[in-house]
Amino acid sequence: MTTHVSDSPANVVASRILGTGHYAPAQVVTNDDLAKKVDTSDEWITTRTGIKQRHFAAEGEASSDMAAAAGRAALAMAGLNVADLDMIIVGTVTPDHPIPGCAVHVQRKLGADDIPAFDIAAACAGFIYGMSIADQFIRGGSIRCILVIGVELLSRKMNWDDRTTCVLFGDGAGAVVLGPATRPVDGAPPVGILSSLIHTDGSLAGALNIPACGSAEPPVLEHLENKQDKVHMVGKDVFRTAVRNLTSCSAQALKASTLMSSDLDWVVAHQANMRIISQVSSRLGFPLEKFVINIDNYGNTSSASIPIALDEAVRDGRIQPGQTVLMCALGAGISWGAAVVRM
Ligand code: COA
Repeated sequence: MTTHVSDSPANVVASRILGTGHYAPAQVVTNDDLAKKVDTSDEWITTRTGIKQRHFAAEGEASSDMAAAAGRAALAMAGLNVADLDMIIVGTVTPDHPIPGCAVHVQRKLGADDIPAFDIAAACAGFIYGMSIADQFIRGGSIRCILVIGVELLSRKMNWDDRTTCVLFGDGAGAVVLGPATRPVDGAPPVGILSSLIHTDGSLAGALNIPACGSAEPPVLEHLENKQDKVHMVGKDVFRTAVRNLTSCSAQALKASTLMSSDLDWVVAHQANMRIISQVSSRLGFPLEKFVINIDNYGNTSSASIPIALDEAVRDGRIQPGQTVLMCALGAGISWGAAVVRM
């Protein structure tokens, strides 16, 4: 194992983001494009969701292709090589195959050694889950450098007869490289993941799911004809839960970080619906201008949405080193979580 940081494990107090990256497929599908095959309109999608366009993967492009591209970009920003990695965690509910995990293909495509590589199936919360798990490994001192990726290829999981849901989602991948953060010296504020927390409420599993074609209800013709192998969502239930739980877990993560909302520079919330983001903003009392928003360009990319938005804001200079960022996400499960990070 090649290590790039000379700090001894005893001095590691947290993990920090060393680099970010993202990948969006080239094909852009506007609301007007969708309106040619779905009974919808740009006006409805824009006013109800804030989405103007989304990216769809090309034929033959797999989740692991997008994930590997995002991972390479994050490694390049961190100034690291694949050989520096000790672990790969991929948040996804759209792996290339049911078996093995998407992370396995990412490992192969990156050319990494036989480091552990595994998936987290926490849907839109998958990236926060992955980052939280990676943070525990790095704090524990046994692992130094972890690539955490969120990737989703949901365009192949849409029921194009369900106009309420099929207009919402897009494809893409985002990634961060996490490494050790050491005890601050000379009164400097701590950097890295200051707090992270994750939750699940399985009683709401039916609100957002793919109803069949798993091991409980194997793929038979009837399920395929009824589109039971596609994403099904009770949008209003998910909406209400999202506003409530994103607000509460953000407040919890902030409290656990011992910061106040006035200490935050940015919020990178899951990009599911502009109206959800606005309501979380007003409930948290944190101005909407401080939210990183790109839902108009990408739609809901599920586990990829936070790392894509984070990477865009880092690369265009909105998020600066030393600034404090709150991230929060919620998705199928219902699973949700939040993290406070000083960059
Ligand atoms: N185009 C045009 N009209 C549409 C439409 C579309 N794509 N989808 C639904 N409509 C119509 C409905 O048929 C309904 O018409 P009616 O009043 O004549 O019956 C009307 O718009 C309102 O539909 P409704 O389902 O009540 O819309 P909504 O305001 O609840 O918005 C969602 C629907 C999905 C955008 C919203 O519920 C949502 O964002 N939910 C949360 C989604 C989410 O966050 N998911 C992921 C979490 S990871």
